[in-house]
Amino acid sequence: MTARQPLALVTGANRGLGLEVCRQLRDRGYRVILTARQAERGRAAAEELGVEFLPLDVRDPASVDRLVAELRRVHPDGLDVVVANAGVALNGFDANVAETTVDTNYFGVLRVVEGVLPLLRAGVHLVLVSSGVGQRDLLSAELRARLDLGSLTRTELSALMRQFVADVKAGRHREAGWPGTAYGTSKIGVTALAHLLTRDLADDPRRIDIVAVCPGWVRTDMGGPNGERDVETGAASILSGLDVPRDAPHRFYRDGAPANW
Ligand SMILES: NC(=O)c1ccc[n+]([C@@H]2O[C@H](COP(=O)([O-])OP(=O)(O)OC[C@H]3O[C@@H](n4cnc5c(N)ncnc54)[C@H](OP(=O)(O)O)[C@@H]3O)[C@@H](O)[C@H]2O)c1
Repeated sequence: MTARQPLALVTGANRGLGLEVCRQLRDRGYRVILTARQAERGRAAAEELGVEFLPLDVRDPASVDRLVAELRRVHPDGLDVVVANAGVALNGFDANVAETTVDTNYFGVLRVVEGVLPLLRAGVHLVLVSSGVGQRDLLSAELRARLDLGSLTRTELSALMRQFVADVKAGRHREAGWPGTAYGTSKIGVTALAHLLTRDLADDPRRIDIVAVCPGWVRTDMGGPNGERDVETGAASILSGLDVPRDAPHRFYRDGAPANW
């Protein structure tokens, strides 16, 4: 009897870090599902790597539903690794940028994680790609106090993210204690989410491991040509999240080491 090949799913993987994460997972012996919102680009990237492709736009709940239905049909045994990598860093700062960024980077991760929860196998790893740019001290003392990871619920965290967008729209984000960065705020949300999910799923018999990770500043379309790291190093930092002990209290890592946020 041959051993079952572990199954990994990566979001936003037609280019950049997501694509390289797929390559490294494949090389580690995973069966990989590369997902992307643009089917043609995703399919071409998957073909080049010799991995599977499924369409996924993390902003579209119906797209998440279709992915989950397809996974149930094609891979009824479930997932061993999920890397929530899709993200945007848009130029400028206004209500539209705030809304798109928070919806993609924070709610996109939440939608995917909640969608795939029933499909996770025992010992599964969920790696949420965040960023060290998402530092809590960007927030006012009052907002930081509301981000109490012991008591905050996921619903309250989502409400905070929506509040940021509403405050930017109303032109009052500064007085409300938010920074002038939609990207940084959305990534504070992602890192907080890893902590809340870890707490909420602690008693799940499948021993679900959830970490947020930072790839470092990487030379991709997003990071630009001056980034400090090549894409291989950045992707390796993301996958170092697979080696974090499940009982480690710290839930935000870079290069396999706890990082500040
Ligand atoms: N590069 C860095 O220095 C750096 C640093 C810290 C954290 N990160 C994080 O690392 C992750 C990957 O970044 P990257 O540098 O590889 O960026 P990238 O080169 O800009 O690639 C971003 C990927 O996300 C996809 N994406 C965007 N919106 C999506 C949506 N609604 N649904 C599905 N996919 C979507 C993009 O697809 P399209 O091709 O269709 O646009 C693309 O495949 C992001 O979460 C980013 O915040 C990057």
